Formats: sequence, C-alpha cells, structure tokens
Amino acid sequence: VHHLLEKKSIGNKFVAQLRDMSVQKDRLRFRRNVERIGEILGYELSKSLRYAEQNITTPLGKIKMNLPEEEIVICSILRAGLPLHTGLLNYFDDAENSFISAYRHHPNDDENFEILVEYLASPSLEGKILILADPMLATGSSFVNVLQALETMGNPKEIHLVSVIGAKEGIEYVSREFPDNSHLWIATIDEKLDEKGYIVPGLGDAGDLCFG
Ligand code: PRP
Repeated sequence: VHHLLEKKSIGNKFVAQLRDMSVQKDRLRFRRNVERIGEILGYELSKSLRYAEQNITTPLGKIKMNLPEEEIVICSILRAGLPLHTGLLNYFDDAENSFISAYRHHPNDDENFEILVEYLASPSLEGKILILADPMLATGSSFVNVLQALETMGNPKEIHLVSVIGAKEGIEYVSREFPDNSHLWIATIDEKLDEKGYIVPGLGDAGDLCFG
C-alpha cells in the first residue's frame, strides 16, 4: 500500500524545497523538511494502528479517549534516516529505537556496488510494530538488506516502511521482497533510476545534503 502526499497539501512544499538546488544548501532546512515529512507520514500511519479506550481525568471531569495500544520500534537507516527518525519520534514519542547502517560499497568501479550492514543496535522486534525509516528508496537494496539483518531480532507483527522519495523500480523490488504484513508510506514517487542507481529527477544524495 502506498500513501503519497496529496499534491495539494503543505507537505508538497516541503518536498519541493528538498528537491530545489537553490534551497538545498541550507542544510538545517533540508533536515527539518525531512523531519516534517516524517511527522506527516507518521500521522497518516498512526491511523492504521490499534487503539483502546482509556479514562482520562481532567481538572473538571473524566473522559474516555482512544489511545494507541501498540509497542512500536522505530528503526532508521544511517545516515539519512536520522531526521526522518526524529520526525517519527516527535509523534511516537514513547517508541523504542533501532539504528542500523547500510551503505553502498563500490569495490571496483562506480556502477557496481554491494550494500554492507556494519552497525546494528536494536531491541527485540518480536510481536511489535516496526517502523523502518529511510528518506530515499532508490534500488530498494538498503531496505531489503536491512530487513535481512533485522531477522535476528525477532518477528515484528507489522512493518511500516517510511520514505520521502522513491523510484518505481525500487518500490516494486521492495514490494516483492517484504512480507505481506508490510506497508509503505512514501511522500512522492519518481519514474526512474540513472545508471548509478540514483533517483531521477529525485533530489541528489540525501545523506550528504543532511550531513555534508
Ligand atoms: C542512500 C540513501 C538510502 C540508500 C537508498 O544512502 O540514504 O539509504 O542510498 O538507495 P537504495 O534504495 O538503492 O539502497 P547512502 O548509501 O548514500 O548513505 P548515507 O545516507 O549515509 O549518505
């Protein structure tokens, strides 16, 4: 399932600023826009979770309210996943957190690369809601490799992939490789990848734009 930002919503402005070369040099704005999209997608995602009624006592009385009942783990893929992680954590503020590194290693030439997973810190995922955050979904290899690396941490009840920008090819690959209990929440989808596996027109290298 793909949840895109509505073309006529303020979130679309955040994506436009992420793509715009003349705005990108403002690293603070770039990170904050990724974070804001994390907040919007997190809000959309929250509507799909399980809720239970709880009694709340105000200074003037009592009221029953629906509150989320899930155990959530937010896992971000370093480095560019960090501002998206912050946005998700702003809303799911009592979630547990995982961090994992997956980077493109070019052993010989520029066009061929393998994804290396070198760092993983994670609580158990058994029976929990796993939210996987990476702003770029290009070939989809990072998400798929991270899924494999996380297998040792237990079986999540549901997986929610959160991303800002994706290429059709990568989304199809991820849809094939992820289990049926997975959902993709993504702001926008571009047509293609170039010969180096970058999204076109995309926005460039999100990790570098966030962190230099
Ligand atoms: C970029 C991006 C994603 C990955 C997407 O990371 O941030 O993690 O590539 O590509 P894929 O779908 O083809 O796997 P990069 O390797 O540039 O690392 P960085 O975030 O540390 O810059």
